[in-house]
Amino acid sequence: MSISKFQSRRNFIKQTSIGLLAFASMPSWINAAEGMHGMPILPPRKASANFKPDVELELFCQNTEAPVLAGKTTRVQKYSAKLLHGPEQSVTEIPSSYLGPVIRLQKGQKVRIHLHNQLDEDTITHWHGLHVPAEVDGHPMYVIGQGQTFVYEFEVVNRACMAIYHPHPHEATAKQVYHGLAGAIIVNDEIEAALGLPSGEFEIPIVIQDRLFDLQNQLIYSPGMHGNMFGFYGNRILVNGHPELQLEVASRAYRLRFLNGSTARIYKLAWDDGTPITVLGVDGGLLEQPEQKPYVMLAPGERLDVWMDFSGRAVGSELVMRSLPFSGALPHMGMGMMGNNGYGLPMQSDYAIFSVKINKKVSDSPKLPTALSKISRYEISDTHNPNKPVPITISEGHMSMLLNGRPYAYKDIQANERIPVHTIQLMEISHEHGMGGMGNGGGMGMGRMGMGGMGMGGMMAMAHPIHLHGQQFQIVSRSIDSSREGDYATVNQGFINSGLKDTVLVMPGETVRIIKPFQDYKGLFMFHCHNLEHEDMGMMRDFLVE
Ligand code: C2O
Ligand code: CU
Repeated sequence: MSISKFQSRRNFIKQTSIGLLAFASMPSWINAAEGMHGMPILPPRKASANFKPDVELELFCQNTEAPVLAGKTTRVQKYSAKLLHGPEQSVTEIPSSYLGPVIRLQKGQKVRIHLHNQLDEDTITHWHGLHVPAEVDGHPMYVIGQGQTFVYEFEVVNRACMAIYHPHPHEATAKQVYHGLAGAIIVNDEIEAALGLPSGEFEIPIVIQDRLFDLQNQLIYSPGMHGNMFGFYGNRILVNGHPELQLEVASRAYRLRFLNGSTARIYKLAWDDGTPITVLGVDGGLLEQPEQKPYVMLAPGERLDVWMDFSGRAVGSELVMRSLPFSGALPHMGMGMMGNNGYGLPMQSDYAIFSVKINKKVSDSPKLPTALSKISRYEISDTHNPNKPVPITISEGHMSMLLNGRPYAYKDIQANERIPVHTIQLMEISHEHGMGGMGNGGGMGMGRMGMGGMGMGGMMAMAHPIHLHGQQFQIVSRSIDSSREGDYATVNQGFINSGLKDTVLVMPGETVRIIKPFQDYKGLFMFHCHNLEHEDMGMMRDFLVE
């Protein structure tokens, strides 16, 4: 066993030097894309006189400090907001957190947000999960500099859901999110309100992130080549900006709104006493009916709406939400060579996320509804291209993680990436032939060829949370290469495929088919890996909706 491990390592080094050579001789468009120049410099968008907002707020991005660990405060970048006009609950601070305030919107509201960049670097904000016009979607071409203000105006057309706001400047998204720039948006609508789900103090956001600190309690962000390839991982789990969070709850039902705000870490969430997770919804809002899951996979950018009833639990009793062990989301060999990725908290190991303590006995509690919502679904026959899915191809190589074989470049739209507006598209997310999927199920699997025969892509194969801007999509099918079934069995019961999604975790060897509408708005809409290190490395493309 130790011999084969040693052999794998030697092969890895051999492959690595081949990779470096290959990189040196790559075509010029790869090098040209590096700085991503060529984006237009646009004057920041201004308010339009004929837009009458129901909610208007100022959103500031600032360098500041926040209490995170015991002792010294931590230098962070933070969103803060000031409500100018609209219902008071539109903005709620999370106490003493570096996270931005929760922005609560109602379907149908017209919203105007003045984004003030008070950082000493460029930024722009994206409303992850909201379906808004391209010019207010936070495309990196709209970055603003220090001291500038960009005005967003849009109508909330989404159904009730949890969305995210976070920066999207080219090649700096991960760094800004890591330093604190992120917040939750909660959209409510009448259908949801009629369900009487737990609200107010009984509805709790759970934003999960991992961070690495130095001895002075300052954030360390130094992905380097290794972190860019495999993701950067902290050794502390923070929930809502705090380590070892303990929620105090009453013995009744709660609604927990999860958001994975980590740059790369994927969680396999489960209650430590074996209670199944009762799922109410995912990225795009409520499911049709609640689903019970032994555990739920939550990748960066994904959201999860959970019902948890603490009724009948004794006052003083505790419950822990953990991340359970799984495999296959990181390259087996890369991790072996690079050592203990995760800086003491390996991603696929078993660790606590937060705990809950029952501190009060109450006698009544809302009951779990049996039906939640109606999802208007499309059939493959409703799509514009039932026999020719739009490909989203993942390719993994040494020092490059690509989509459709190309790194991000502005206006580098390929034929496949042009989408006629007002169409419904069948799309297929898969791994480039012979890469990641390790043989594409056609008898070229690693079992026959052995380690020495693996291509670079197979070695680098890892899980990628693929996010598409614009409207939410349906997952129509998932299939796994037979060589990957073992790893897949450690995660697949944690996927929720029945809800509307904007981010889907694609495992090595997995092919996912989705149906996505492209209605209402023309323009550039990004799709990218929400492993933010990958995104910043160029694992991002644009669809031109025209
Ligand atoms: Cu949450 Cu384009 O990102
Ligand atoms: Cu990725």
